Parts: sequence; C-alpha cells; structure tokens
Amino acid sequence: MSICFSSRVFNLHSAKNQSFVTRFSSQFINQIHVSSIPYALPSSSLNLSELLKHSRQKKLNPITASTTPSVETLSQSSFRNKKPKDINVLVVGSTGYIGKFVVKELVDRGFNVIGVAREKSGIRGQNSKEETLNQLKGANVCFSDVTNLDALDKSLRNLKVPIDVVVSCLASRTGGVKDSWKIDYEATKNSLVAGKNNGASHFVLLSAICVQKPLLEFQRAKLKFEAELMTEAEEDNGFTYSIVRPTAFFKSLGGQVELVRDGKPYVMFGDGKLCACKPISEPDLASFIADCVLSEDKINQVLPIGGPGTALTPLEQGEILFRLLGKEPKFLKVPIGIMDFAIGVLDFLVKIFPSMEDAAEYGKIGRYYAAESMLVLDAETGEYSAEQTPSYGKDTLEEFFERVLREGMAGQELGEQTIF
Ligand SMILES: NC(=O)c1ccc[n+]([C@@H]2O[C@H](COP(=O)([O-])OP(=O)(O)OC[C@H]3O[C@@H](n4cnc5c(N)ncnc54)[C@H](OP(=O)(O)O)[C@@H]3O)[C@@H](O)[C@H]2O)c1
Repeated sequence: MSICFSSRVFNLHSAKNQSFVTRFSSQFINQIHVSSIPYALPSSSLNLSELLKHSRQKKLNPITASTTPSVETLSQSSFRNKKPKDINVLVVGSTGYIGKFVVKELVDRGFNVIGVAREKSGIRGQNSKEETLNQLKGANVCFSDVTNLDALDKSLRNLKVPIDVVVSCLASRTGGVKDSWKIDYEATKNSLVAGKNNGASHFVLLSAICVQKPLLEFQRAKLKFEAELMTEAEEDNGFTYSIVRPTAFFKSLGGQVELVRDGKPYVMFGDGKLCACKPISEPDLASFIADCVLSEDKINQVLPIGGPGTALTPLEQGEILFRLLGKEPKFLKVPIGIMDFAIGVLDFLVKIFPSMEDAAEYGKIGRYYAAESMLVLDAETGEYSAEQTPSYGKDTLEEFFERVLREGMAGQELGEQTIF
C-alpha cells in the first residue's frame, strides 16, 4: 500500500466502489501516482431570454403531514401539467460527472434548464467560465455560490423567472469530513431553501445507495439532508421530492482496465467476492434522474437504482476484463486486514495530528468500498440483495471496459483526492 506524506497532507489514496483498489493497484505495483486528466469541452451559449417569457407566481401551501402525495398535492404542483419547454429546472452540481449528463438529458427532453456553476468549475477548478458554458450547452448557466445561501438566493431572484424543480447533483469533490458537511449537507440545503424561495415545488436529489449503512461522514451528511427533505414534504403539502440512490458509477470501476491491459494483475480484496454492485452509466443514471422530474410514481420516493444485468463482484469484473483482452486471468488478492491496519494507524495519528482527519476518513472510505456491496440492504435479513436492487438503462460494464480499452479513461476522472 502506498501512503504518501507530503509537506502538509498525509494522503492515503482511496476510492469509492473499488476505485481504492485501482489506486492501490497502480501504486502497489507501479508506485506511480495517477492524476486527473483535463477533458475537452464542446461549445455552447448563454440565453435567459426564453426563460423570461415563462414567469409565474407560485403560492406555497399550508403544512399538512403526508408521506404520499394527495391528489390535491399533485394538482397544486402545477408544473406537472405544463409542457417541458415551460418547466424551469434548476440543476445544482451541474458541472459534475453526473450533473453534466443530467443537464444534457434535461435539455434533450426540452426542459428550460438552468445550471448553477462556479466561475472555476470541474476538478480542481480546471474549467473557465467559457469552458463551463460550452460544457453545459443548451442550458442557461447561472454563476453563483451554492455554499452561500444569500448569494444563491439573490442569483436566483436576479434570473427573474420562477423555478419549478431543483435537481441536485452536488457532492463533495474531496470526501473530506468538513467538505462533506459543507456540500452534501449545507450547500444542498441552501439549494432547497433558495429553490423554494424562488418557487420550486419538487426536489430531485442524487444521493447514494451506500447511505443505507452510514459509517462515513459524507453518508451521514447526505442522510441528514435526506431526512430534512422528507420532513419538508411532510410539512408542506405542495412540496414533493424524489431521492435517487444509485449503485456504483462506471468511473469507480474502470481504473484497473489500462493496468490489466498493460500486463498487471487485477487487484482485489479478500477472495474478490466481499462486495458486489450493479454499475450504472452516466447517461442511464441521468435518464433516470430526468424521469424523476415528471414521473408521478417517483414522487416522495427513495429510489435505489442500478444498471442493467446482474450484480457483479470484483472477481467477476476482473474476469470480464481478462475475457475482453483474451488473456489468462491473473489476480492479486489482498487481505482486507491490511486496510484495517492502515485505518488503525491513521486513527492513532489523527489523535496527535487532528489535521489528518481527512486522511483517516479516506482510509475508512477505501475500507468501506472494499467490503460493502452497493446493493439494497434487506432490512429483515441484514444482507445485501441483488434481486431487490432495481435495474435501469442499457449500458453495461462490459461495453464500458471495451470503450476504455479502445479510448482510455478520458472523461472518467475521479475527484480531487481521487476518491469518488
Ligand atoms: N462514484 C460512485 O460510484 C457513486 C455511486 C453512487 C452514488 N454516488 C454519488 O453521486 C453523487 C455525485 O457524484 P459525481 O461523481 O457526479 O460528483 P462530482 O463529479 O464530484 O461533482 C460534484 C459537483 O458538486 C459541485 N461542488 C463540489 N464542491 C463544491 C463547492 N465547494 N462549491 C460549489 N460546487 C461544488 C461540483 O462543482 P465544481 O465542478 O465547481 O467543482 C460538481 O458540480 C455523489 O453524491 C456521490 O456520493 C457516487
């Protein structure tokens, strides 16, 4: 295992959903550091004039506790009766891995999309304003600060159009303790409050299936927001939500493809069957999230969702890869105890150096995704269940591996700390 000390940061490379294994693999075998690769962007324009035509007054309703929407609620959600072109959808986290695809999907479906973005967006702020506009082609882009409620509220008011639906794809880019609470809870809450202040009556939240078993700080932050979102819908009869909890993304599973192609073994923990997931592609997940804008059967629902096909363990993912390469399978099985040892060391060090709390958290994230499945957790048996995890979409992991073998991992970069 490669644990790297730099002048200020103790950096245990880890990753969500087996991508820890990727980093582990690349460092264990090669002792190389994989950094993010900037990606190319298409062209676009900014146009709010269409939106100005569609302003409306939205009256918020009295408090009535209800978990399932009443007929009254649905009829009050007047945006549901409008055509997509007349529905204003605000997307926060619009510049992320999933957010970009959500914007594209909503634009393709004809909604009026307003993407909220930072002036420097993307991993480590690599994209300029111009590049962000190009990236969110077809959407109106509102440059603002989701971490500042007043600033966000003001920006939305300045648009001079009412918001109908907020879609949040916000997520901490580091997975660090403070940043998780700042983004996965506070900034997402700001988007709810500012969205509602500006007329929104439906909130679609991109969450994660792993919050079912919350052992990590970002999971606790997400769960707190989920709970408050549900309370909001109980107390405000005119307000609804859809919480989307996906399984693993392709980017989290593709990191070993090029290494294996280059002759390295496929690295996995234990016997390679400690965990399983139903990987989902960005376009398929974006399509599911876009469905949540109007589908009445997704109102006030928590929606676990995976990609097509059966659940796959790391061992099965490795076997797919070797089959595609026409190579004899070569696995490196790493005892899970090595992670426990590393976490123990980090937990000890963090008591002496509190500034290392994020490094310790990254270790725990790595351990979590090495051993916990990204599947529905059966409340009765306490076991993960592939059968109970719904499938959606058409893109398979095998096709994704084929593409990475052909074209590389461009566009599939992990976040700032190569965690998510
Ligand atoms: N990886 C997986 O396998 C997996 C599986 C299931 C669920 N999930 C969940 O899916 C969600 C989205 O993941 P993703 O990979 O699409 O995330 P991502 O690529 O890291 O995108 C994060 C988004 O949040 C924004 N953001 C982060 N920090 C910000 C800040 N300080 N101020 C303003 N905006 C900020 C980013 O804006 P900038 O571009 O300006 O940074 C970006 O738009 C996460 O909640 C994750 O837990 C992931």
